[in-house]
Amino acid sequence: MSTSISLETIQSGILEKGEAALKQIQQSNTLADLDQVRVSVLGKKGTLSEALKALGQVSAEDRPKLGALANEWKSKIESAIETKKNALEILEIEASLQKTKIDVTIPSRKKHAGSIHPVTSTIRKVSQVLGRIGFDVTVGPEIETDFLNFEAVNIPKDHPARDMQDTFFMGPGVVLRSQTSPVQMRAMRAEKWPIRILCPGAVYRNDSDATHSPMFHQIEGLWVDQKVSMSDLKGTLDFFAKEMFGSETKIRLRPSYFPFVEPGAEVDVSCAICGGRNHKCPVCKGTGWLEILGAGMVHPRLFELAGYNAGEISGFAFGMGVERIAMLMHDIPDLRLMFQGDQRFLKQF
Ligand code: PHE
Repeated sequence: MSTSISLETIQSGILEKGEAALKQIQQSNTLADLDQVRVSVLGKKGTLSEALKALGQVSAEDRPKLGALANEWKSKIESAIETKKNALEILEIEASLQKTKIDVTIPSRKKHAGSIHPVTSTIRKVSQVLGRIGFDVTVGPEIETDFLNFEAVNIPKDHPARDMQDTFFMGPGVVLRSQTSPVQMRAMRAEKWPIRILCPGAVYRNDSDATHSPMFHQIEGLWVDQKVSMSDLKGTLDFFAKEMFGSETKIRLRPSYFPFVEPGAEVDVSCAICGGRNHKCPVCKGTGWLEILGAGMVHPRLFELAGYNAGEISGFAFGMGVERIAMLMHDIPDLRLMFQGDQRFLKQF
């Protein structure tokens, strides 16, 4: 049988191509390069496959020899590719780790957690202290009728007491409540006595300086039952002052006027800063006393307007400015700090 190509030529062709492929494999620097080599050698039109096509042209007895040689090279090349592939993969992983390297020794960024606003914490503290002697928290709307904000708490139209509170009028008969006292009236109209409630919330007055804000917070207290007396009021406020400002704290009541109470009083606590001993004390101005709230015995007119029988019952009410209490507790010099949202101020609480 005559062959156009000799066995030796084909053998050396396979050898040559195989050696060249191994070299190319060695020289591949990336997985993509390596894959190109694989296709160019082992692919359908690859050099090794092309060489094998010549198989048909050799004699039948030479064919198995050539086949074995070709297979030997095929697996040699395949395993070289596999080895190189593993090596390149490790290199690529290392390179990408280098690129995305995390320096665990760099200090982490600080997380800024929020803190409880002093107004909120003061409302909570007051509610918790007075909650222990039976006061429940209740709330009312900030947009209030002129009737409940004023008339129902004994401040009729044209009453001079209206001048005490620079009110924002929203429309005919509607105001931004200027005090939390209307919540007393809402509670009494909604429920029969006995009543023992605290009403915290925002109130509004057209006034703005270092000690006044157009929006601030009050807490109103109300206790209505049979035989509630002025001494109950004093005892309650004394307990409250000692719990809030320390067990040494004393209170004093000065006669004052609020239309919804009779008699009415302004209540002072002894100055915890100087105890009244420093006549240059900036907090109490050397008087030894700080005014913290208004209070008094509920005016019988309110009971009538609430539909109660004024002869059966009595009660006391008190109202305090939350910001003022917070300022005293934390020694805050300017009320406006409370509403500026400045983290440097707020995070101190
Ligand atoms: N509502 C009064 C004020 O805003 C405070 C107060 C409440 C006084 C209850 C006495 C009794 O000034």
